[in-house]
Amino acid sequence: MEVIIQPDEDAAARLVARIIAHHLRRNPALVLGLATGRTMTRVYHWLVRLHRDEGLDFSRCRTFNLDEFIGLPPEDPHSYRHFMNTHLFDLVNIDKARTHLPDGMAPDLEAECERYEKLIRTSGGIDLQLLGIGRSGHIGFNEPCSSLSSRTREKALCPTTLEQYAPQFGGDPHQVPRRAITMGVGTILESKRCLLLATGREKADILHRAVEGPVSAMVPASALQLHPRCTVIADEPAAEQLEMKEYYRWLFDNEPEWEPFRT
Ligand code: GLP
Repeated sequence: MEVIIQPDEDAAARLVARIIAHHLRRNPALVLGLATGRTMTRVYHWLVRLHRDEGLDFSRCRTFNLDEFIGLPPEDPHSYRHFMNTHLFDLVNIDKARTHLPDGMAPDLEAECERYEKLIRTSGGIDLQLLGIGRSGHIGFNEPCSSLSSRTREKALCPTTLEQYAPQFGGDPHQVPRRAITMGVGTILESKRCLLLATGREKADILHRAVEGPVSAMVPASALQLHPRCTVIADEPAAEQLEMKEYYRWLFDNEPEWEPFRT
């Protein structure tokens, strides 16, 4: 795992977008794993800019989102499908038939989870998986106690997550859907590369536990320590509690791979 610290959330999101663009240019048929949430809106803003200003081409890539709420139809403004259409898919030259999210309205949810796993496999697996981190330590909706080898499945949202989402549902945690379909931790760990973005002081404690604490199902994001190619990008406030900050800065300044991304 490596950690890159950026001065603020805009710089962190822009760096994530530039890394995604770099991979997409090298492999236009990239299989891209996508995430939702407040943190990601800036990444998508920058990807849209790169499409408009530099012609970044999405026409041949395929995308798989991490998760979707159960019981929300795609046209519901709170659904992740709606989020993705609004923030990215409607604004770039992507073929929507190549964009995938779990179907939270499927009559047989277990079959839907199996279908999703199979589709990822038959697409050749995820090349680059974008991730945020929840205040509970979740990645996707893998809440604390999630098996570190779990696959795509239904999952109940934990109280911290319901609280985190309440403002978007009129301030009432009871209005937030109780369950979601999420890729499993095991599914995520199979992607060839992971990029986790964390911004803001409210993520500082959980980021420290995920990156520098022990690998534990109580902090599902800590499983990323087991991934052979995982890069964490944090802004200064989110990095506040990291103990090895200066070492991470040194590595970023000295790793040849990051040379094109230092400015
Ligand atoms: C949600 C999503 C996660 C996301 C996380 C962080 O619950 N399921 O994939 O990473 O929350 O959200 P935010 O960026 O809004 O803090």
